[in-house]
Order: sequence, then structure tokens, then C-alpha cells
Amino acid sequence: MIVPIKQIIAKAKEKKYAVGAFNTSNLEITLAIVRAAVAEKSPVIIQSSESAIKYSNLETLFNMMTTIANTIGKSVPIAIHLDHGHDLNLVKQCINIGYNSVHMDASDKDFATNVRLSKQAVKLAHSKKIWVQAELGSILGKEGLVKLETGEINMKDLMTDPYQAEDFVARTGIDTLAISVGTIHGQFRGIEKVDQRRLKKINSLVKIPLVLHGGSGLSSKIFKEAIKNGVSVINIDTNLRVAFKKALLSQLKKESDLIDPRQILAPSTEAMQKEVVKMIRIFGSRNKA
Ligand code: G3H
Ligand code: 13P
Ligand code: ZN
Repeated sequence: MIVPIKQIIAKAKEKKYAVGAFNTSNLEITLAIVRAAVAEKSPVIIQSSESAIKYSNLETLFNMMTTIANTIGKSVPIAIHLDHGHDLNLVKQCINIGYNSVHMDASDKDFATNVRLSKQAVKLAHSKKIWVQAELGSILGKEGLVKLETGEINMKDLMTDPYQAEDFVARTGIDTLAISVGTIHGQFRGIEKVDQRRLKKINSLVKIPLVLHGGSGLSSKIFKEAIKNGVSVINIDTNLRVAFKKALLSQLKKESDLIDPRQILAPSTEAMQKEVVKMIRIFGSRNKA
């Protein structure tokens, strides 16, 4: 059932486990996330990115997420979050339609602009008791990885500065902070690390819950250490995409005569559900509903 996100994240921070924030863009992914949460009696955050919203449209996606959360997911706490909102207008629309939390991501802008946009989002959201996540430092994607590999950019320069983070939180009044501590969006097993010392330092200076982006591909040891060092929310997208595709290819190879999309996609939904269950167990949110 949809609940205020504060209820989910404050409990995770207090009890020292993390809640998974899983990206969705369609019915099958949403079903997988919610079915896994129900099976594990776990709270969960369902999030949609700007491009996921463009893929269908805001009303369709929002109504699908909330309907599934309030019906199939009625026994567990669920919150709906906008992931990486770069456009204040879209942030506004998500606040107005009823998202529980919005990510105002102006991390690619200069510090003053990031502060200004994050504050604006806070003003709009808090009047409706909605939480705001903002971001300091850069969390790269695949293109960024190439630049890292060629030495064009240095990961250390992109990471969140703990003292600047303390200042940023005080100036903006945000509710959760997305930090850059070494992860990259996508699944890069063996390449990604978390700068645990930096994370610990940020956590000692910043009192609001911390969000780890780019969770796919990290080992359970790294996750557990990051949670011990202060992470309360972990974003996962690519792991589910990989599970979806692998199951789809195998199903089409095995049952090449199928034409019913439901039969074609059922193993993908199951595979994503298994992946969410795996993450829930690692994050420690099982039986915390
Ligand atoms: O952090 C990015 C998320 O994985 C969303 O990706 O913009 O392709 O939906 P997307
Ligand atoms: P991954 O795709 O690496 O899991 O990252 C997801 C994410 O951070 C969404 O904001
Ligand atoms: Zn992210």
C-alpha cells in the first residue's frame, strides 16, 4: 500500500538496513517488484525515470504504479519516487500528481544552481508533505566509463565532497541525499567499488538518509558494508534489465512458436522478481513491512 516515503526510509535508517528503489517503465517490471516485496514482507520504493515517463506518459505510469501498489501490494509499505528529475517542470508535475518523493537532479550544474533548484523543489514538495532527494557529485553511466578509462576524467573529482555535502544539505533542506562514492550506472562487475571511507565521513556529517545510486553489479559484501556505513536507500535498475533480457531470449529460443505476449514475458517477470528478492535479502529489508 502506498505510504509516505518518510515512513519507509526513516525506519530503515533507524534499524540500519536499506530499502531497494527499483526502476520501472512497464507492467511486467512493476509486477515483479511488488510481488517480490509481498513475498518477502518488505517495504519497497518503485521509481520511474524521466525517460520511463516519456515512454508511456506520466498519468499512465503513475496510475499503473499506484494501482498495483494499492492492490497486489496492499500488505506492504510502498512509495513512488521520481528518479533523476533534471527538469523542474517535470518535478512539479510529479509532485502534483501524487509521487511520494522526487529527485531534483541538478548535480551537473554548478553548486549555486544545484542549491537553487533543489531549494525550489523543496518549497514545492514540502507544502504537500512530499520528500525531495537531491544529488551532489556525479554518478556516471556507460559514456562516463569510457572517459574514465581513457583518463579524460578522474573518479575522485566526481565524488561527493563530505564537507560540501554538509553545507548543501543545510542550505537546501532536502530530505535524502544521492551521493557519488564510486559507483557507475550500469552493471560493471569487478570494476565498481565504493569508497567506504568517504561514505563514512559523509554519514558522520550529514544527518539525512543517504542514497546509493548505480547499485547493479555490486557484490553483497560491498552492499552490506555500505549499509553499515550509512546508506539507507539503494537504487537498482540494470540488474532487472539483464534478468528480463536473459529470460526473454531463453523463452523465445525454447518456445519459438509462442505469440501471446503474456506467455512470452512470464519468465522475464519471474526472473526479475527473483532478482528483487535477492536484493531485498542482501539489503536486510525482508520482514520489515
Ligand atoms: O539512473 C538511471 C536509471 O537507470 C534510469 O535509466 O533513463 O534509461 O530510464 P533510464
Ligand atoms: P543501476 O542501473 O546501476 O542499478 O543504477 C540504477 C540507478 O541508480 C537509478 O537511479
Ligand atoms: Zn541513479
